[in-house]
Amino acid sequence: MERVEQPGTAGDIASTSKRPLDIREHVERADYQTIGTPFAKDAKMTARNVNVYYADKQAITNVSLDIGRNEVIAMIGPSGCGKSTFLRTLNRMNDIIPICRVEGEFALDGEDIYGEEQDTVLLRARVGMVFQKPNPFPKSIYENVAYGPRIHGLAHNKAEMDEIVEDSLRRASLFNEVKDQLDKPGTGLSGGQQQRLCIARAIAVSPEVILMDEPCSALDPIATARIEELIDELRENYTIAIVTHSMQQAARVSQRTAYFHMGKLIEVGDTKQVFTMPKHELTENYITGRFG
Ligand SMILES: Nc1ncnc2c1ncn2[C@@H]1O[C@H](COP(=O)(O)OP(=O)(O)OP(=O)(O)O)[C@@H](O)[C@H]1O
Ligand SMILES: [Mg+2]
Repeated sequence: MERVEQPGTAGDIASTSKRPLDIREHVERADYQTIGTPFAKDAKMTARNVNVYYADKQAITNVSLDIGRNEVIAMIGPSGCGKSTFLRTLNRMNDIIPICRVEGEFALDGEDIYGEEQDTVLLRARVGMVFQKPNPFPKSIYENVAYGPRIHGLAHNKAEMDEIVEDSLRRASLFNEVKDQLDKPGTGLSGGQQQRLCIARAIAVSPEVILMDEPCSALDPIATARIEELIDELRENYTIAIVTHSMQQAARVSQRTAYFHMGKLIEVGDTKQVFTMPKHELTENYITGRFG
């Protein structure tokens, strides 16, 4: 079986007091090895040697993974395997869970996102998130989208803000449906429209990466198809990581797929390969429906 090349060992790293300049070269040996290609040729985000704990319970065990620029990477695996936990490490959303402790090295365009000087509000604007359940603010459609650009000072006047709001709603393919009711509450929209509103809200601050945690699980097939088309369009300008329970969805929208099992990254590779020729038995069992 093909093994991931793992240059350096925990011992090598421990013997140098300085942080490695290129964290891409720093992968520790774990009690298991991820099969496939966790490294992207052109990485937008880099996660190395990630361990996550909730109090003393370990939820992620030694995961190293790149998110490639302008790619959609799907994260799949049985319930409780740590998909959401791992996704949240990428924009430090786990910081707000007091019992959660994150270890590892994370970079966005080579910049340490867990560094002391990192502003998490700014980070979450650069690495936006769309949640499983659409969660518009209890404000108007316009204000839902304008909120982020306002707190980040992205518009100098009303005309500029109007333009950002319209452009974001257009890119989320919602504008035509809501253009005559921008002052109506966002919570009054249908589930699929609310999810597109949340996507518009996420892209309004011009993020570089969008994390989506089961964004279609509350939607019907038509709304789901709209979101999937949108993900494909957004890939031109953004980098996207999506957690999904739907293998069809992963196959349709992603170029790479990562299979998690009990907190470990078991296999990662080109989506087509993972779904047609999985290399690990656990991946095969999962995608053929024998597990999870
Ligand atoms: N806030 C939390 N406090 C304590 N334990 C947590 C918390 N969030 C997740 N966990 C635990 O961490 C493990 C991984 O959970 P996580 O939610 O990341 O899994 P998941 O793969 O996203 O599952 P699902 O597919 O059901 O959403 C589970 O054992 C879960 O119980
Ligand atoms: Mg989850």
